[in-house]
Amino acid sequence: MSEPRYPYVHVSVPADEAELVSDQLWVLGAQGVEERDATTMSAGEGEGVLLVASFPDDTAAHRAVAELTHPARVEHVVGDAWRDAWREHFHPQKIGARLLLRPSWREVEPAEGDVVLTIDPGGAFGSGIHETTRLCLAEVDRRVRGGERVFDAGCGSGILSVAALLLGAAEAVAVDVEDNAVPVSEENAEANGVEARLRVSTTPIEEVEGAFELVLANIQAPILIALAAPIAARVAPGGALVLSGVLAERAEEVEAAYRAEGLAHEATEAESEWRAIVMTRLASG
Ligand SMILES: C[S@@+](CC[C@H](N)C(=O)[O-])C[C@H]1O[C@@H](n2cnc3c(N)ncnc32)[C@H](O)[C@@H]1O
Repeated sequence: MSEPRYPYVHVSVPADEAELVSDQLWVLGAQGVEERDATTMSAGEGEGVLLVASFPDDTAAHRAVAELTHPARVEHVVGDAWRDAWREHFHPQKIGARLLLRPSWREVEPAEGDVVLTIDPGGAFGSGIHETTRLCLAEVDRRVRGGERVFDAGCGSGILSVAALLLGAAEAVAVDVEDNAVPVSEENAEANGVEARLRVSTTPIEEVEGAFELVLANIQAPILIALAAPIAARVAPGGALVLSGVLAERAEEVEAAYRAEGLAHEATEAESEWRAIVMTRLASG
């Protein structure tokens, strides 16, 4: 059997532009971005920083190269050894008051009251390492009290749905455009014993029916804006919507798109340059 090949986008940038280009890579669908320079174990190239970003497949990697503002190239790593080394960077972390995120290959000793969320992102986005995921998980931790119906738009590894179900949500409906997200989300739900309450599919967001007390959408600003009507329509009266994957400079634009759909702004949470916007639909009557 031939060994698997994983695509990585390599971009050399001046040090003061590394953060900007790293953000672009995340927005273009990177699943992880490593910065290499003279101080890191794998050295960079020349004076600046070499950004090495993993992508789920060749199509996504080549699309990113075409859209980046800096010259970039696609390289491949063959075999699983490198990916396993990359896993060394994931460590258990406490998120919010209750969640203790555990990569499936690590042991944890939970404190009283900790709810252990075990995740293996496989080839899907959603390890919990990225700010946009952590911002959503913190909102899930804050808002799920028990019995809610949750809609997870762009579920990736299923991490947000599984967290909500572990915290007592009655049911989660999760969708993604990537086929791979379905088995990975199912496996993560099983690893946490919540698979009976998760429905995951590649149903387009526009075709999902019903209204939900909590809607989670960690996608990217242009997609959140384009899909404002169908995403907002899934928020039940009195329900909340968490919009993540948004860089600070796009936050107002995203918020405006959802105000136009009849939702009210409740809060904006920040981690570095990323924002999560919480919108609510007033209870009717
Ligand atoms: C940033 S990841 C978030 C994954 C996970 N929910 C998390 O919070 O870590 C965005 C996900 O949205 C998916 N996505 C992008 N466009 C989409 C669309 N139009 N409809 C549904 N999912 C989409 C991507 O495939 C990806 O899995």
